[in-house]
Parts: sequence; C-alpha cells; structure tokens
Amino acid sequence: MAKAKMKKLSEVSTFPFVFENKDFLNPGLTNHLCEKIDLKNKWKEVVFKNNHPITIELACGKADYTISLAQKFPNINFLGVDIKGDRLWKGSKRVVELGLTNVAFLRTKIEQIDLFIGKGEIDEMWITFPDPFPKKGDINRRLTYPSFLEKYKSIVKENGLFHFKTDAIDLFDYSEETIRDFGFELLRVERDIYGNNLADEITSIKTFYELMHLEDNRTINYLQAIIK
Ligand SMILES: C[S@@+](CC[C@H](N)C(=O)[O-])C[C@H]1O[C@@H](n2cnc3c(N)ncnc32)[C@H](O)[C@@H]1O
Repeated sequence: MAKAKMKKLSEVSTFPFVFENKDFLNPGLTNHLCEKIDLKNKWKEVVFKNNHPITIELACGKADYTISLAQKFPNINFLGVDIKGDRLWKGSKRVVELGLTNVAFLRTKIEQIDLFIGKGEIDEMWITFPDPFPKKGDINRRLTYPSFLEKYKSIVKENGLFHFKTDAIDLFDYSEETIRDFGFELLRVERDIYGNNLADEITSIKTFYELMHLEDNRTINYLQAIIK
C-alpha cells in the first residue's frame, strides 16, 4: 500500500467522531482510543450528545453531501458511512477545518450496518453516486438491491425519507422499479435534473463523483421515496 494512503488510514482512526468496524468476520466498532464501543441505539446520546434527528449518507466517499447538508442544517446530525478509510479521512479533515460538530463517520461495509444502528434510529437517508455494478452477476451488490432495502427499512424510522442520486441510468431505472416493488412510496423520480431544470438547493449539491460525471457530460438523476 502506498505510504500516503497508509498515513491517511492510520490518521482517520484518530478523529473522535470516526467509528470503525475493522474486522468484518468479528464485527464491532472501535473509537479513536482503540476502545471497543457499542453505539447501537446510542448515536444521539453518546456521539452527538443531543436529541436532534439523524440523517445518514451511505457510500459517502469524501462526504461532500454530508458536509454540505451539515453546514446548511446545524440542528440535524449527519452520519457518513463508507468502507474506504482514506476517503473518510478527507471528509474528516474538512469536518475539523469547518468546525462542524454535527457530523460523525462510520467506517463499515454497508452489508453490516444493522449491527451498529438500531431499529428506526435514523430519520432520513441519502445514497449518492454508488457504484453502478452493471454486470448481471453483480446486481446483488447494488445498494438498491432488496437485501439492502431491507436493512434501510430496519434502521430508518417508518415514513423516513430516502434520497438517491446517480448518473447511471440503468441503475436508476433498476432502482426505481426495485424500490417501488419493495413497497417504498416514490415521491420524486427526476431524470436529468439539470437539463430539465428540476434541481433545487438540496439536490444541486455536487459530490466529487458528480463533478467528474458532469465534466463527462453525463446527466444526473434523482429519486426520493418514503420508507414504508
Ligand atoms: C463511486 S463512489 C461515490 C462516493 C460519493 N458518494 C461521491 O458521490 O463522491 C462509491 C463509494 O461507495 C463505497 N462503497 C461501495 N460499496 C460499499 C459497501 N458495500 N459498503 C460501504 N461502502 C461502499 C466506496 O468505498 C466508494 O467510496
């Protein structure tokens, strides 16, 4: 592993708002002091130290959405989740620079998210530009595959909002159908949000990946649903 990446991976573990599941075979969270910590049903009390609602961003990468939303909504807690520590390091550095106190990060595979978050503990969720997994054999890795939706239904409260943004039209179409069939109520299904003038202050926040896709002249799509 490159030296710079190793440095980020060891540094990300030192931020007091980062919690990591380092061993997928023996899952459990550790904090910045390398102590085991159980946060299930305790995120508000132990991490955020308030009773504000929690919005989660899954596959947050460098956490561009999490951070922009956290700046706009200081009375909401934001939890960014990704498996890649070097990307969370980037987000963590920005959280410190900006002095944000309403952001935390969870480094884990999303497949294990329900081990660390309690039933209905989350109020709202975002997925931005997840890997599209275009091959047929990989469809079960898409973050809108029913086994993932099942987990979101468990951790997000009934009637919580689900937001999804992607450039990948096959993934978008697949997600619209899967989410509807799963029983979530679709509120907004917007193709080419910029070309069709549909983007608002929130949906026009741009992530690292979104900016790359826009440079390649790809169109951006947005879907919003109520979790049922
Ligand atoms: C294409 S990037 C998008 C990152 C960010 N949302 C953005 O728009 O810039 C996809 C991210 O999903 C994360 N990811 C993919 N599958 C995951 C999984 N099963 N569990 C946790 N993270 C995952 C990757 O590590 C990567 O950071």
